[in-house]
Amino acid sequence: MTGTSLDGIDIAICKFNSFQNKYNFELIWQGHFCFSNQLRSLLLDIISNKSTDLKTLSQLNIAYTNEIANAIEQAKIKSGISNIEAVGFHGQTLWHNPQKEAFCGQSVASTFQLGSGTHLSTVLNTKVVYDFRTSDIALGGQGAPLVPFFDYHFLKSDNENVIALNIGGISNITFLPKNCSADAVIAFDCGPGNCLIDICAQKLFGVDFDENGALASQGEIVPEIFDELITINFIRQKPPKSTGKELFNVSLTQKFFGKYSKYDIIRTVAEFTVYAIVENIRLYANPVDKIVVSGGGAKNSYILSALRKQIESSEIVIIDELGIPSGAKEAIAFAFLAYCKLLGIATNLPSVTGASKSISLGVVAGY
Ligand SMILES: Nc1ncnc2c1ncn2[C@@H]1O[C@H](COP(=O)(O)OP(=O)(O)O)[C@@H](O)[C@H]1O
Ligand SMILES: [Mg+2]
Repeated sequence: MTGTSLDGIDIAICKFNSFQNKYNFELIWQGHFCFSNQLRSLLLDIISNKSTDLKTLSQLNIAYTNEIANAIEQAKIKSGISNIEAVGFHGQTLWHNPQKEAFCGQSVASTFQLGSGTHLSTVLNTKVVYDFRTSDIALGGQGAPLVPFFDYHFLKSDNENVIALNIGGISNITFLPKNCSADAVIAFDCGPGNCLIDICAQKLFGVDFDENGALASQGEIVPEIFDELITINFIRQKPPKSTGKELFNVSLTQKFFGKYSKYDIIRTVAEFTVYAIVENIRLYANPVDKIVVSGGGAKNSYILSALRKQIESSEIVIIDELGIPSGAKEAIAFAFLAYCKLLGIATNLPSVTGASKSISLGVVAGY
């Protein structure tokens, strides 16, 4: 799994089994691998400028896939597991626009994940399941979020309303009312996760991210910035909704740089990140008994303590406490989608994505 934060590659090696629509998994090994500096800066550049030339795109497709292949080879060595049956390969999202637009005399919605499943399958000599989002979009869906299928099977409770909150680059929630059926699951993006905090950490402090929220903790909230950020319509927009760096990018904050203390700016942006989550739970995902937090943001103690202060009525746990490392959750979820693809099991939730029917997501290379 490689997400929008471009912080690197998360790998989870899992063993799944199923019986009568009930699933089990065992996490055997998990780890994080960095991108090479060259690849990371090229990806950052292409995503923020939304353009590149065809030669670069074609070469990048292979170079990115080779870094994934190397990481998998290293994971096999470190874990001592050599018999991998299949790889679930999300790819790097370079473009995601599920809204139809006029194009070439047609009406077109599209998503594009960098990475060649065929190349990966060939160099690893292993089956690879990839391109998970295209068929949901072809059925009129958002192509996202896809992790709620995993949340439904592994985090739903018989007697508690549960929220799975993932704080990646963007924050998203899956609301699982107690004992719900698959078509009662609600899931959507709340707004920024770590993305705006990362931008402030990088541009104002020259570090990749705000480790444990230590920088934000030293600042004060600037009402002028906070009051402006919370007016962004997306925050209170009704689900289904999804967002990305198209909206939550440097342009939102850079006008404040130099005008206020850098600690106050990052604190305010962190507070806004928490506000977007809390407001969406208040409006669209309640009552909630338990919130299970995952993603890199689960390691930001400033965010965690602000959430605990503002949502006193619910228990807030980090997914690690349930035996799932927070950084590995999405990788485990895509391994699960790959496992289901090999069994032909439908994995999108039409109530969540808006697709006209459920379908087994992904395509298999390397039979
Ligand atoms: N110790 C930490 N303290 C604060 N933030 C962290 C920490 N570790 C990771 N993060 C944040 O998590 C982000 C990566 O989260 P991740 O869930 O991998 O997102 P994505 O799915 O977008 O790649 C980093 O960019 C960083 O902002
Ligand atoms: Mg990541």
